[in-house]
Amino acid sequence: VQKLTLPDIEARLAAITAAGNNTFLLQNRDVFMDMLTDSGVNAMSDRQVAAMMVADDSYAGSATYTRLETRLREIFGMEFILPAHQGRACENIVSQVMVTPGSIVPMNYHFTTTKAHIVLNGGSVEEIIHARGLEVTSDEPFKGDMDVAALERLVAEHGAERIAFVRVEAGTNLIGGQPVSLANLQEVRAACDRHGLTLVYDASLMADNLYF
Ligand SMILES: Cc1ncc(COP(=O)(O)O)c(C=O)c1O
Repeated sequence: VQKLTLPDIEARLAAITAAGNNTFLLQNRDVFMDMLTDSGVNAMSDRQVAAMMVADDSYAGSATYTRLETRLREIFGMEFILPAHQGRACENIVSQVMVTPGSIVPMNYHFTTTKAHIVLNGGSVEEIIHARGLEVTSDEPFKGDMDVAALERLVAEHGAERIAFVRVEAGTNLIGGQPVSLANLQEVRAACDRHGLTLVYDASLMADNLYF
């Protein structure tokens, strides 16, 4: 529980200046509405708090877990599910298991923590965003699309064995949250299938991407 305060505009400007315009260096007491991250540090709804009260925490066979598993299978069509507490924890697990020294991870566009985990495990990221994605002024609706021809070139140049996995960020929040089209996702999936590559989909921003 936290009492919200709305500092006046001069106080906020002073805090922003003192932080060198770096939102990571702002103190929470100077922030009225925190939109730095999508990682869930804002207020919880009455439904969320109520759901915590009736959650089944039993050590095994928890009904809450079964509900989560059923819903995730329904949405993603995957048989195996491993819940983790945060995106970066998932990235750590995926990278430790799949990235080997010298391996390559093609991505439409990098995300900070994702790249850190890949690099920590000895791999490197190849950004293959479609050229349309970097045009600042255009009406192109899906600037997050991956350049599938560039993916094919990477496979031809390095061989499929050097590729740890292919990763799609949807949307690409480091270039403004540009969305990825479902058609592009299907083309990437087909290219991965042709070369026996695993496709990792970062669904952190799935809701925004589906909206777009
Ligand atoms: C696209 C994307 N991938 C991964 C992450 C990492 O998730 P988390 O902050 O839950 O570790 C984020 C979080 O902001 C994200 O936006």
